[in-house]
Amino acid sequence: MSRTALATIHLGALRRNLACVRERAQGAKVMAVVKADGYGHGLERAARALADADALGVAALGDGQRLRAAGQRQRIVVLSGPDEPADLAEFRRLQLDAVIHHESQLALLSADEKAADGARPLRVWLKIDTGMHRLGFPPGEATAVHARLRALANVDRDIALMTHFAASDEFDNSMTREQIDAFSRATDTLDGARALANSAGLLGWPAARGDWVRVGGLLYGLSVVGERSGIDLGFEPAMTLSTKLISIQHLRKGEHIGYAATWQCPEDMPVGVAAIGYGDGYPRSAAAGTPVLVAGAPAQIVGRVSMDLITIDLRGVAAPRIGDRVVLWGQGLPAEAVARHAGTISYDLTCGMTRRVLFVEDHV
Ligand SMILES: Cc1ncc(COP(=O)(O)O)c(C=O)c1O
Repeated sequence: MSRTALATIHLGALRRNLACVRERAQGAKVMAVVKADGYGHGLERAARALADADALGVAALGDGQRLRAAGQRQRIVVLSGPDEPADLAEFRRLQLDAVIHHESQLALLSADEKAADGARPLRVWLKIDTGMHRLGFPPGEATAVHARLRALANVDRDIALMTHFAASDEFDNSMTREQIDAFSRATDTLDGARALANSAGLLGWPAARGDWVRVGGLLYGLSVVGERSGIDLGFEPAMTLSTKLISIQHLRKGEHIGYAATWQCPEDMPVGVAAIGYGDGYPRSAAAGTPVLVAGAPAQIVGRVSMDLITIDLRGVAAPRIGDRVVLWGQGLPAEAVARHAGTISYDLTCGMTRRVLFVEDHV
């Protein structure tokens, strides 16, 4: 094999993480969020491994189409809902649930009422914007929009109610409490299942549990909660990104490494070159000091990440050899530790793999 960057997807970890989420959800239903190609783990693969979830959440209609084409029979919720007239027939044909978050979608549903005559009504989730200010109706419109949806013959009478948190990963930020209260006030008199919590909401905000939790990150063993990694929180990484050492240089004190010569050797030292770079989706922003594992031993990146290669300080690695396995994140090295050095979050890392990376499945 000429190219050696491998993303190993641990299917057992996905299953065990789902069981762990279910336990914490304490009876609430679990929507497994598999948008962005299953947070980079592979849409169909993630959905298959998460078959025990009560529903799958995807970003857009195209993902729902892919999942149905793959034979996925689970309930699927399209989190951005329809955005063109032709979408509604497709939602019906594929029996996809639609999140309705904007007036323009009510117009689409109204216009579709006649065309839908006799067909099974669409299952709808009404989204209320309680402070994120991205998608959703203002709280003051919840009752009226709910009534308008109820009056449509092409909409199922059982309408779920949802909102999304902006800062639930900060357990001491009162914004989440305010969002929970705003949602309760807006939906107080309405029937329907409640869905508020994402991963951090599930962990830190018991009052947000509701009837459904919509969880992505934790299923993949990823966290956005402060300094705590998914592993610290009791979850297993579902992706291990690895490659091989393809060169070892013995450099002298004062010599520079990589583009722009940003790193200078403080002493005579061995420097390893590993076959991965931003062309594979490894972040170019990963600074000197970003952790890696070389043959299981902790080491750090030095110099700039280039398109195909990274350079590694091997002073702490006993007897490094060409061909040694280099782990960039995953089992043994939380993606959160890497993300911190790259100025991003772990979700961004796993979502960023390019087509050059070879995906393999670990069934254990
Ligand atoms: C509407 C909605 N619900 C739930 C989630 C899942 O969030 P998390 O991956 O943090 O659990 C997302 C992801 O961003 C989302 O957009």
